Amino acid sequence: MYSVVNFNINGYHYKFPVIYGTCYDKAINISKLRESTGFITFDPGFKNTGMTKSSISFIDGEKGELLYRGYPIEQIIKKCSFIETSYLILNGELPDTAQLKSFSERIKKFNHLHKEMNQILDHIPNFYHPMGILSSLTYILDAFIDCLQEEDMYIHLLAKLPMLAALTYRKKVGGPPTHPDHHLDYISNLLKMFFSVPNQSYEHNPIIADALNKLLILHADHEQNCSTTTVRLLGSAHAGLFSSISAGMTALWGRLHGGANQAVIEMLEDILKSGGNIKKWIEKAKNKKDPFRLMGFGHRIYKNFDPRAKIAKQVAENVIQELGISDPILELAKNLEENALRDSYFIEKKLYPNIDFYSGIIYQAIGIPKDMFTVMFALGRLPGWMAHWKEMKLNRDPIGRPRQIYIGYKKRNIKK
Ligand code: ACO
Repeated sequence: MYSVVNFNINGYHYKFPVIYGTCYDKAINISKLRESTGFITFDPGFKNTGMTKSSISFIDGEKGELLYRGYPIEQIIKKCSFIETSYLILNGELPDTAQLKSFSERIKKFNHLHKEMNQILDHIPNFYHPMGILSSLTYILDAFIDCLQEEDMYIHLLAKLPMLAALTYRKKVGGPPTHPDHHLDYISNLLKMFFSVPNQSYEHNPIIADALNKLLILHADHEQNCSTTTVRLLGSAHAGLFSSISAGMTALWGRLHGGANQAVIEMLEDILKSGGNIKKWIEKAKNKKDPFRLMGFGHRIYKNFDPRAKIAKQVAENVIQELGISDPILELAKNLEENALRDSYFIEKKLYPNIDFYSGIIYQAIGIPKDMFTVMFALGRLPGWMAHWKEMKLNRDPIGRPRQIYIGYKKRNIKK
């Protein structure tokens, strides 16, 4: 273990401290680099930049390991509900029975929306993408919530985001507004708000509830990804929680991030429509002159299998089998994965399927339309975003403000 790293710049020696995380990741602390040497670092996409210390989740990209507050994702999936996972991520420890009861009851207590929220939704055009609607509604929600305690804001969001998602879905399909059912658990209530039909009794399907519970857990946190970094950056400027989360949603919507789940299904449908020639599409993804990428493949951190993708593949297979669906898209996905994983381009670049490769297949099987996939991802990621916002405040992280290398005109005069 080194405690310092020596830099030799133009014959001058500088020592910079090294910091270590609990799971052996290490960083050179260059926070005094410019002050001592005049240099800054250049790291487009922040591929080598640690922006904070965090204790929420840990990824070992080489081993394909993901921990939430120290617990492996494989154990959490088997033993916890999404609400227990949310509690764990937000508070650092799993809840005991009394804590879980009180947490769930507080969520139910805040399970209502001001009628103005419905009126605002009525004025948003139907064709607008559900992620744009969800992010706008989350932003404006702030106007209707007056929290005495900061902790209440987290509960309001956990309670209200599923309602906003369900309203967005029902607006899209032309269904009447929906109301929560306080007798149900979080996931069953969410599904009922989406799919119940007036004057018909709602049939609860445990297979669907279990698949959704697992998917939301898989999405719950993933350290400093693009949307979480967005949330932390906004928070670092002391923007409020709702606007920070709304901005995080907008980042998640991007097709290289959470929007990939929609893009994967669209890609698989295109492949099927064009005759299912997998090899042709793999060649297309490898062609540097073609902007096409194999959606759902590759990850900034995982250079081995994404453990979430392994679980999602299993969930997709189970849910399709148990619901008795025959889905050519799942067969195509498995075929595409096998072919890509045998291809030297994907092997050399360490490109494996990520969570989004299989999540869309599950959403589709449980009846969620394509343009709502990323909305479901946002419902899952909510506890992670909130925990990072909270941690950023507790850490007193400084305002996020990178530098640049200016390559524009030198100083010049206006000639007139
Ligand atoms: N298909 C084909 N080639 C790819 C792919 C892909 N899906 N992903 C990366 N590559 C290639 C790149 O072209 C690049 O090649 P080069 O070194 O010859 O230039 C190399 O692999 C490294 O790719 P980068 O884009 O530099 O890797 P980065 O870490 O910046 O990007 C990302 C990661 C954005 C996820 C990328 O792999 C990608 O675009 N994947 C497809 C979109 C996707 O599935 N996104 C979801 C990610 S998971 C999530 O956000 C929840």
